[in-house]
Amino acid sequence: MKITIDSVKIVEVGPRDGLQNEKVTIPTQVKIDYITALGDAGLRVIEAGAFVSPKWVPQMADTTDVYRDIPKDPGVEYPVLVPNMRGLERAIEAGVKSIAIFTASSETFNKRNINMSIDESFENYAPVVMRARGEGMRVRGYVSTAFGCPYEGQVAPEKVLEVSARLLDLGCYEVSVGDTIGVGTPMQVQGVIGMLLQVIPASKLAMHFHDTRGTALANTLAALELGIATFDASSGGLGGCPYAPGASGNLATEDLVYMLDSMNIVTGVNLNRLVQASTIIAPYLDHPLPGRYLQACTKGTMPFATSLSSSAAVQ
Ligand code: HMG
Ligand code: MG
Repeated sequence: MKITIDSVKIVEVGPRDGLQNEKVTIPTQVKIDYITALGDAGLRVIEAGAFVSPKWVPQMADTTDVYRDIPKDPGVEYPVLVPNMRGLERAIEAGVKSIAIFTASSETFNKRNINMSIDESFENYAPVVMRARGEGMRVRGYVSTAFGCPYEGQVAPEKVLEVSARLLDLGCYEVSVGDTIGVGTPMQVQGVIGMLLQVIPASKLAMHFHDTRGTALANTLAALELGIATFDASSGGLGGCPYAPGASGNLATEDLVYMLDSMNIVTGVNLNRLVQASTIIAPYLDHPLPGRYLQACTKGTMPFATSLSSSAAVQ
């Protein structure tokens, strides 16, 4: 294994990707406490919610209240998902400084998720990005179903490249390449990302692995080897997409940090404090959190830091 990266940026998506798929209603104040604790753990980018239609995703209906009441840490970015101009208007009204737009590399998923074809989504997002950037916002892009679609099956890497390049052309500073239903494997990561890297620099790519089939950490290693240094993850392994049948949680942030600590790759995240953040949200869910490191801790196994970097990261 040859990895030259010495630090990784983690985009914590638990409060958005994690909570959007939960059946139970999480009290707004609990979301605020959870996000605050994630910041205290050293996470510098925390997706705080989504200005999507509350009819489509009721779990995100309180994003305005959540965003308003997070005690904003000046060192932390709190992006929110925006699907259209209405969402951007809500974001502007809430004082949001950073948004994420989202489309897919397969038509059927995109239609089910945002009721638009891929081309329609770009027509929709063009004025959104222009206005957002005019307001001084940072705009991130997501390309879903990059490793497989729940409706169409295999997805051509060429399509992932095309959609990713279009998102960057539109003005996104980074594209997060999503394994929405967690079907990807390390060799596939090499193939898809290898193709993207022929055109797009690694610094503009992030990986967004769901861990449905237990391959997220192995996929992360494959991406690290290719020079990718930004990874989305959700604390405790929360997550899933309501419009992707079978999608389960994201790569657990604790599992990611545990592995990166052992490789002396700096994340700035304190593992113990991260576990504390997950234990804030855990009692409000109707199922145990799937993250393996967290489970090892809560089953009474001693917390086990693999290097000094974790405990030294945040005092
Ligand atoms: P639509 O039904 O085609 O839109 O939905 P519409 O314009 O006809 O609006 C329907 C109703 O929603 C109207 O209300 C609008 O006002 C309202 P009504 O007149 O019926 O009372 N509305 C809104 N309300 C609040 N905020 C808004 C908004 N827009 C419309 N922004 C739409 C189209 C895009 C709105 C809808 O499909 C939607 O919200 N989809 C979001 C789905 C979603 O959030 N999915 C999960 C996030 S993506 C994901 O998880 C993948 C990712 O993690 C990466 C990966 O894993 O691959 C990012
Ligand atoms: Mg996701």
